[in-house]
Amino acid sequence: MASFNFFICLFALIALLSLSTSHAAPLAPRQIGNLTCNIDRIKIVAALASTKNALSGLTTAAANDPAASAAAAQATEGIDSADAGVATIAKALLTLQAAPAAARDQVGAGLTQAQTALNSINSTDPAVTAKLSSAQGSLTKAITAGQGVVDNCK
Ligand SMILES: *[C@@H]1O[C@H](CO)[C@@H](O)[C@H](O)[C@H]1NC(C)=O
Ligand SMILES: *[C@@H]1O[C@H](CO)[C@@H](O)[C@H](O)[C@H]1NC(C)=O
Repeated sequence: MASFNFFICLFALIALLSLSTSHAAPLAPRQIGNLTCNIDRIKIVAALASTKNALSGLTTAAANDPAASAAAAQATEGIDSADAGVATIAKALLTLQAAPAAARDQVGAGLTQAQTALNSINSTDPAVTAKLSSAQGSLTKAITAGQGVVDNCK
C-alpha cells in the first residue's frame, strides 16, 4: 500500500499547488490540472487501494470455488494494471511530462476488466458475496473518479 499513500500525497501536493494558480502557472504545465482534477486523482488512488483490499478478501473467501477464484484473479489483474497506469501518469506529472494517453487507456481498460470479472461471479456463499459487494462498491467509486479525471483533468 506504500505506493498508494505516495500517490495520494503527490496528488494532494499538486492540488495545493493548483490552488495558487497564479504562482503555479509559470512552473506547472497545463496537465497538472485544477483542484477538481486533483481531488478526482486522489479519489481514484484511494478507491483503487480499497478495491485491492476487498479483492484480497474475496480471493481468500473464494478459495474453494474455482470459477470465483479465477474471476477474482482476473479482477485483481485488472486493478493491478489500472494501478500501473495511474503510476505512469503520476510519474509523468512528477517530471513535468505530458501524461501518456496510453496510460489513461490502461487505467480505463483495467477498471473494465475488473468490473467484467466481478460481475461474472454468481456464488451464493455469503462470505464470498459479502467481499464481492465490497469490491464492487469500491470499484464503482474508482470508475466514477476515473470519469471525473477524464472530465476535469483537461
Ligand atoms: C456462473 O454460473 C455459470 C452457470 O452455472 C457457470 O458456468 C459460471 O462458471 C459461473 N461463474 C462464476 C464466476 O462462478
Ligand atoms: C477544472 O477543470 C474542469 C475542466 O476544464 C472544469 O470542468 C472544472 O469546473 C474545473 N474546476 C475548477 C474548480 O476550476
